[in-house]
Amino acid sequence: MNQQPTDQTALNSADHIWHNANLVTLSSAGPYGVINNAAIAVKDGRISYIGELAKDELPAEVAHTDMNQRWITPGLIDCHTHIVFGGNRANEFEQRLTGVSYEEIARQGGGILSTVRATRAASHDQLLNSSMKRVQSLLDEGVTTLEIKSGYGLSTESELKMLQVADTIAQTVPANIHKTFLGAHALPPEFAGRADDYIDHICQEMLPAVAESGLASCVDAFCENIGFNYGQVKKLFQHAEKAGLNVKLHAEQLSDQRGAELAAEFGALSADHLEFVTEAGVKALAAGSTAAVLLPGAFYYLRETQLPPIDLFRQHDVPMVLATDANPGSSPGTSLLLMLNMACTLFRMTPEEALRGITINAAKALGIADTHGSLEVGKVADFAFWDIESPAELSYAFGQNPCVGVVKNGVTVMERAR
Ligand code: NIG
Ligand code: FE
Repeated sequence: MNQQPTDQTALNSADHIWHNANLVTLSSAGPYGVINNAAIAVKDGRISYIGELAKDELPAEVAHTDMNQRWITPGLIDCHTHIVFGGNRANEFEQRLTGVSYEEIARQGGGILSTVRATRAASHDQLLNSSMKRVQSLLDEGVTTLEIKSGYGLSTESELKMLQVADTIAQTVPANIHKTFLGAHALPPEFAGRADDYIDHICQEMLPAVAESGLASCVDAFCENIGFNYGQVKKLFQHAEKAGLNVKLHAEQLSDQRGAELAAEFGALSADHLEFVTEAGVKALAAGSTAAVLLPGAFYYLRETQLPPIDLFRQHDVPMVLATDANPGSSPGTSLLLMLNMACTLFRMTPEEALRGITINAAKALGIADTHGSLEVGKVADFAFWDIESPAELSYAFGQNPCVGVVKNGVTVMERAR
């Protein structure tokens, strides 16, 4: 790292300085953008100083914390979750172990629709209580931003109920919550056999109600044989665009539907899953600045064998992102750190790619890379403290949680002895 001149003014006016730390900035050239023996300072919730700092350069009058060589990364970002839902699907897990496939269970009226029944039956508070436990697991691992989708209501009323629960979570926890309307997740029983009619219903009634409520900033859909086809998603996206909402897409999870191409055409923030994407789809993502969100939890849990084309994403410079996909059917897990390990072991991503996938690239997938996702002066002061000896350790181990602290908007919101 080049030694930058110490910005003494920024240090003197800081609200707090964390020093004697190792920073994983993920911003500059060089592995992980590491700065050793460094300090990070905040002022009014933003990062005001980053750089090497000798102990005698520390302004004694500013509140400070000696990090004792601990590591600091940007706050983690989980950009794809279905973390609000009723019930669970342990029974379907057992069914799948006797040889029934995920798709077969869905076609028999189980799968997403079984969670729809449980979610419709649950009250706002019941959903809140069950979801908060899962959200808390994410926060315990240093997550400071997460996305939450609707999609288990599939009626205006119950989709809004889910989004209101997500909104209550946003008001309760020290994390930014990005809310996504996923009305086109599955065909509700009221519209059985009438997918086109349901898409019209979403476009004419549900989407306007959601847009009016201000409870979602993005529209997602499940583009799949057991979901909605290219033409149906295109229609939905046209209406989302008119309503001024961003789009993203569950694309190419189980088969190629040219969902990546469609997502890119609409300037989607991300296309997610992508095991079955073709090179044409990858090129379209590259041209459209659409991030590739990879979900190793779902890949693992569904025992998928088709790998997402990691080398093509590398070749075409498509930002690779990782997320938990936390949901009751295909990825009932709430550990973003475990996704790092799975991305390396299952997808052969490097630990650095994996870490970028839950920080700076995840910020790109949420359209917030200007303010979040890396440690840079001017960005929002969201960061996590780690009891590790190198950044690769975050991917290397699983089932451990080395997170020892979290700062959100410049304020310490979690401290943990280890
Ligand atoms: O991302 N693919 C569609 N949606 C979820 C699964 C939802 C469910 O099975 O409940 C996913 O894998
Ligand atoms: Fe999903």
